[in-house]
Amino acid sequence: MARPKIALIGAGQIGGTLAHLAALKELGDVVLFDITDGIPQGKALDIAESGPSEGFDAAMTGTTDYADIAGADVCIVTAGVPRKPGMSRDDLLGINLKVMKSVGEGIRDNAPDAFVICITNPLDAMVWALQQFSGLPANKVCGMAGVLDSARFRHFLSVEFDVSMKDVTAFVLGGHGDTMVPLTRYSTVAGIPLPDLVDMGWTTQEKLDAIVQRTRDGGAEIVGLLKTGSAFYAPATSAIEMAESYLKDQKRVLPCAAQCNGEFGLKDMYVGVPTVIGAGGIEKVIDIKLGKDEQVMFDKSVDAVKGLMTACKGIDDTLV
Ligand code: APR
Repeated sequence: MARPKIALIGAGQIGGTLAHLAALKELGDVVLFDITDGIPQGKALDIAESGPSEGFDAAMTGTTDYADIAGADVCIVTAGVPRKPGMSRDDLLGINLKVMKSVGEGIRDNAPDAFVICITNPLDAMVWALQQFSGLPANKVCGMAGVLDSARFRHFLSVEFDVSMKDVTAFVLGGHGDTMVPLTRYSTVAGIPLPDLVDMGWTTQEKLDAIVQRTRDGGAEIVGLLKTGSAFYAPATSAIEMAESYLKDQKRVLPCAAQCNGEFGLKDMYVGVPTVIGAGGIEKVIDIKLGKDEQVMFDKSVDAVKGLMTACKGIDDTLV
């Protein structure tokens, strides 16, 4: 059986890391696409040349021609611009919306059967627009945010509790922005919910609140340190986790930006929610019941995403 084909649209910091991880995990043959000639070809060749030492079997190619992504099983989209210090994800909207239009059309015309994972920010609005520009079914188009936000939360919690990250589960809902909703009630250490750990004296409410805030600011913290761009190792790893679940039909339960059609009382919009990812793409949106305070935070986050959707409609009147 032929190997799966993975098209990476955007061969920048995240795109290159995605290609490397896909190769190391032997998820399939990789095509790196970018508008800047030389970058995708150079990164593809560089990674291919690491193959003999790593011992992976995966073809790596780079291209500036959408025809080369033909028949891709998975497309991961990072095309666009990242933020610099002082910028919010929302400041990227105008530029990246235009990029989503060309990327959506490229996928529509060349890889209409692919499972598409968008990473470009501002994430929830960009994946919503990408789905419309591509015309692909909504269950085949999703956005990577919740896996990353949850991973950041899990990392900070594991350091605070001095336990393995493997035993920390975390749950982050809502838009991928300052209003994201880390749900402490559903986050655990080996099944023990965080509020119980506060009661048990493992941490204090103040420390937990600080970790929640650090999670919300997780992207900005990295931007502030790097100064020249935004995070790329953890975002790439998170998207690869989603791609692997699709390609291997793992049916992982992962938080990601998915189209809600009735779930959480929302219609025709993308926002971070728990999902099941398997061979059918987004096979299920898990409609959990939120507590009163959680609902207030979630609604605020949803409003922020709706504001970005309205701004997108103001720029491109084909969006509905
Ligand atoms: N089509 C294809 N590629 C494009 C296009 C386009 N229309 N416009 C820009 N690109 C390419 C750039 O040439 C660059 O190589 O997208 C790549 C983006 O790479 P980086 O600038 O290194 O950005 P990166 O850190 O990978 O982040 C990409 O993901 O997390 C988000 O906020 C981040 O929106 C940003 C995106």
